Amino acid sequence: RVRVLSGIQPTSDSFHLGNYLGAVKQWVALQDEFDDAFYFIPDMHAITVPNDPAKLRERTRLSVAQLLALGVDPSKSTIYVQSHIPEIAQLTWVLSCITGFGEANRMTQFKDKSARQGAEAAGVGLFTYPILMAADILAFHVDAVPVGEDQRQHLELTRDLANRFNTRFGETLTVPRAYIVKEFAKIYDLQNPTAKMSKSADSDAGLINLLDEPKRSAKKIRSAVTDSDSVVAFDRENKPGVSNLLTIQAALTGRTIDDLVASYDGKQYGHLKVDTADVLTDFVTPLRGRVDELLADPAHLDAILAAGAAKARAVAAPTLREVYDKIGFLASS
Ligand code: TYM
Repeated sequence: RVRVLSGIQPTSDSFHLGNYLGAVKQWVALQDEFDDAFYFIPDMHAITVPNDPAKLRERTRLSVAQLLALGVDPSKSTIYVQSHIPEIAQLTWVLSCITGFGEANRMTQFKDKSARQGAEAAGVGLFTYPILMAADILAFHVDAVPVGEDQRQHLELTRDLANRFNTRFGETLTVPRAYIVKEFAKIYDLQNPTAKMSKSADSDAGLINLLDEPKRSAKKIRSAVTDSDSVVAFDRENKPGVSNLLTIQAALTGRTIDDLVASYDGKQYGHLKVDTADVLTDFVTPLRGRVDELLADPAHLDAILAAGAAKARAVAAPTLREVYDKIGFLASS
């Protein structure tokens, strides 16, 4: 079966627009194209930085509710929480033992995240994070992993580890490919349009949280940094702010960038900002209500997760057994 898989961390009170356009929007489309779609909440990744247990519990359910509200459909997709699949942690150990220390040390996201905490304060889990991510994928014989640009290096490590395991121990693991939609794989901060939109930016003025008050988000779009020119054109180099707004509007409407640019012929940046703000308002306005409705019935969410975990374990358990066997572990009877 051809399978797509991806995850999104439960580390904030709302997904942001970059998460949606770079990842979740593709997940929704791909659940119709693939035989299997596996989408999960990596709660084990969430504890690689200091965390509050009550918040983690709340945000894990909130993340599931957001996925459903955004269109991930439990009748088409297998939705689960990472810690419910013990085989992932078990596979992580085996993969850790074939990962080079230097190889892990080259992961740029570790450098960024550990620098933020102070190198001495960072946990070992933050360092081995990409190996856990490789296990997330390799446990499930995945073909495509839809992610944003910032996950590309982790996907490359995943491929390297799969190939290495197969070379040393015999063909076992499926080598996945990153599914990155170039146009939308990096949505930029509205105030600092050469940096990616991220919840860990110094200020949240350039961050669109999907569950924020729509008026507040619309205002952020209208206040986006552009440049001193006035011609609406797509030019990442010289007009990063304008290009970002065009990208956002194109992604939310399904129109092409060229079509949008043509429609702003003779118009000012103000028009682009107002239209993009309106399109965003239409998109986010129904979300909060849908999420609240889903959260009001936690038993329903838990039932989706229980069914998802059962299906996911049915795939991961045989993979782990084969890995254990190939590496020389005695079968436990
Ligand atoms: P996370 O939770 O940081 O982000 C979830 C997804 O959102 C994408 N993304 C963006 N895309 C475009 N523009 C942006 N500004 C932007 N910011 C974030 C991310 O690329 C990601 O696809 N390590 C992963 C979670 C993970 C995972 C996995 C993903 C754990 N195991 C296995 C795939 C497969 C992460 O922290 O994503």
